[in-house]
Amino acid sequence: MAENVLIRIAVIGGGVAGATVANALFQLGNMDVFMYESASEFSERGAAVGLAGQAQLALQQAIPLAQELLRKAGAVPMNSSHLLLGSGPAAGTVIVDLEDDGSCEVIVHRASLLRELLAPFPQERLHASKKLIDITVMEDESLEIRFEDGTSDRFDAVVGADGIFSSVRNHVLGDAAAEHVPTPAGFWDCRVLVPFDKASSTLGKKHFEVDRQYGWIGDGAFIMHDILENRTTIQCIISGVEKDPPKNRKRPLTREFLTDILGTWLDGPIAKGAIDLVLDQPDPQGYSQWEHKSTPTYANGRVCIVGDAAHATSPWQGAGAGQAFEDAVVLGTLLGKITRPQDIGAAFKAFDTVRRPRCQRIIDSSRDTGEVLCGVKKAVALDPGKLLGALVDRWTFILTFDLEEHKREALEKMEEFKMSLE
Ligand SMILES: Cc1cc2nc3c(=O)[nH]c(=O)nc-3n(C[C@H](O)[C@H](O)[C@H](O)COP(=O)(O)OP(=O)(O)OC[C@H]3O[C@@H](n4cnc5c(N)ncnc54)[C@H](O)[C@@H]3O)c2cc1C
Ligand SMILES: *[C@@H]1O[C@H](CO)[C@@H](O)[C@H](O)[C@H]1NC(C)=O
Ligand SMILES: *[C@@H]1O[C@H](CO)[C@@H](O)[C@H](O)[C@H]1NC(C)=O
Repeated sequence: MAENVLIRIAVIGGGVAGATVANALFQLGNMDVFMYESASEFSERGAAVGLAGQAQLALQQAIPLAQELLRKAGAVPMNSSHLLLGSGPAAGTVIVDLEDDGSCEVIVHRASLLRELLAPFPQERLHASKKLIDITVMEDESLEIRFEDGTSDRFDAVVGADGIFSSVRNHVLGDAAAEHVPTPAGFWDCRVLVPFDKASSTLGKKHFEVDRQYGWIGDGAFIMHDILENRTTIQCIISGVEKDPPKNRKRPLTREFLTDILGTWLDGPIAKGAIDLVLDQPDPQGYSQWEHKSTPTYANGRVCIVGDAAHATSPWQGAGAGQAFEDAVVLGTLLGKITRPQDIGAAFKAFDTVRRPRCQRIIDSSRDTGEVLCGVKKAVALDPGKLLGALVDRWTFILTFDLEEHKREALEKMEEFKMSLE
């Protein structure tokens, strides 16, 4: 009898989403999990991610040793978060002052986070230099995946965690893929990591007396800084609205460009220091923020997409990684109840049904938040009272989400789909 049959599942992409999903599925015991990464090493470039309480809760459910993992990754709890005006005569005015509400957001270096997310997964199941190029659905509904190096393998299910320009997404969307490619969200940013002492002397020591995240709202732009790597490193971000997105998604940053963008900021408390930090890097670049404006489905038969492959968002609500963790929790909940490959389609369809509205709402809300934080939302502009009104409840639907109810709903949907797919 095929009672305890292991389901062979391939996770494509070894970023934050792939690593979290692979761990969550591996722990289930009924899944034979393999992870494939196109790069020669598993590594995360880029700066930091902020993980709010909700994201940590989801990570904890996906990987039980999450708190220990975050400690090893050097995550720094932000005791408070201030949003202030950064440009104009009222620069320095605090708009929103969030003291820690007990859920304590942490800031963590992306490379350190990924290193710790990969650590618990069995090393012999991590395969680097494996770029997926094609998925073929076989007659028995199993999947043959082919890699660029000419090798191929057979699986019962495939999870695409291969990032914003996902190949698995193209398979899942089929003919609709071309209409749902990532597009510019309307903003650019640059992010630098700087030693603590250098950042505090350049930006002002008074901003580093407590572990606080600062977001500076102003004319056409937004500047942010926070603390990571066990308080040894500062992340500083300059971002702004983008009128002409460059085709290759990046632009070299010069002092002329930045002083032009931040012209009305230069007499204020933060812009000069932030410009100095950004330009004091080899080859500083500004990157366009891209997003998936809409996605018709996250699942097709026994293939599904998670993380940025499914729902890449602009970063204005700091919620992308948290959504990848929630994906892992829901997928784990569903696949944990599967006893035969024939039910994978129902599980993935249930995943799509519950996850897509939530992630889409975050994508849309995040883009809108960018407009507010860059002072270009028409009805709000840079009026402190209106900014407070526009910002105060923005994060509530993300942070006070009922993950237990979400999982229950997913299981219920799976049962419905199982019956209709019989
Ligand atoms: C600038 C920026 C700032 C952000 N800030 C925050 C924040 O503060 N808080 C937050 O929660 N989120 C934030 N996010 C979002 C968050 O970083 C992502 O949502 C999260 O990292 C999930 O990424 P991923 O693993 O889905 O994709 P990726 O990190 O892109 O990983 C995809 C992996 O798949 C591999 N791959 C690609 N194609 C193939 C293939 N064909 N075969 C095999 N492997 C392949 C890639 O090499 C890569 O390793 C930010 C994102 C950006 C861009
Ligand atoms: C942070 O400190 C912890 C001990 O508290 C240590 O285990 C970890 O390696 C450090 N991480 C970083 C990235 O500095
Ligand atoms: C952060 O908050 C904790 C608990 O309230 C406090 O003990 C600690 O000193 C604070 N740290 C900083 C750097 O603000």
